[in-house]
Amino acid sequence: MDGAPTHKQPMKPAPALPLDEIDRLYAARGDLQYGESVTQREHALQCATLAEQSGAGAELVVAALLHDIGHLLHRDAAGALQTGANDMHEALGAKALGRWFGPGVAQPVALHVQAKRFLCAREPGYLEGLSAVSRRSLEIQGGPMSAAQTAVFERLEHASGALLVRRWDDLGKQAQMATPPLAHFLAIAGRCLLPRRAGAVRRAHRGSATESPVAGS
Ligand SMILES: [Fe+2]
Ligand SMILES: [Fe+2]
Repeated sequence: MDGAPTHKQPMKPAPALPLDEIDRLYAARGDLQYGESVTQREHALQCATLAEQSGAGAELVVAALLHDIGHLLHRDAAGALQTGANDMHEALGAKALGRWFGPGVAQPVALHVQAKRFLCAREPGYLEGLSAVSRRSLEIQGGPMSAAQTAVFERLEHASGALLVRRWDDLGKQAQMATPPLAHFLAIAGRCLLPRRAGAVRRAHRGSATESPVAGS
C-alpha cells in the first residue's frame, strides 16, 4: 500500500465538533487554576461527578461540567482568572453552549452566578461559608441580591437547576477527589445535543458537515 486515500477515507479532516472542541479547550486551558487548589479541569470534573452522584439528569450533569467553560473561552482566560476581573463567564459560556444544547444545559450555566447572589441574600450563613475566591468575585458580580431581585430570580424556569449547579460549584473545590475522566461526561453531553446539532455531528463524522466549533462563537 502506498498510503493513497481511498473512498472510505475523508480527504479533509472533519471540522471541529462541539464535543471535540470542548475536549480541546480543556486540554489547552484546563490546567489554569480555579484559584482554590484545583484547576479548571478538576473543578469541572468534580462538579459533574457531584451532580451525577446526586442522581441529576443528563442535562444538569452537563451544566455542572461546563458551568465555567466561559472562563476558558475568554480571549484572555489566564489574565482574567489571575486578576479576578469580571469576565462575564456565565454569559459567555451560556451563549456558546446555547448553539449546541438546549436551555436545560445553557440556562443553569447562565444563572449560576445569579444563584450565588440569590443564596447570599436568602440563606443565612451561605455568604460566610463561601470560599475566599467566591467572596471576592461576589463583590464584582453585584453582591447579594435585593429582595426584589430574589423574587424575580426564583420565578425563572431554570432557577432550581442553577441553584443545584451552584451547590456543586461550592463543593467541587477539593484538593483530592476521584472523578471519571472528561470523556465519560462528554459521552453524556453527546446525548444532550440539540437534535439538529446531533445530526450535524453525525454528518461531520462522515466528513461532510461544515459546522463551526463552539469556541470563538
Ligand atoms: Fe462560575
Ligand atoms: Fe465554578
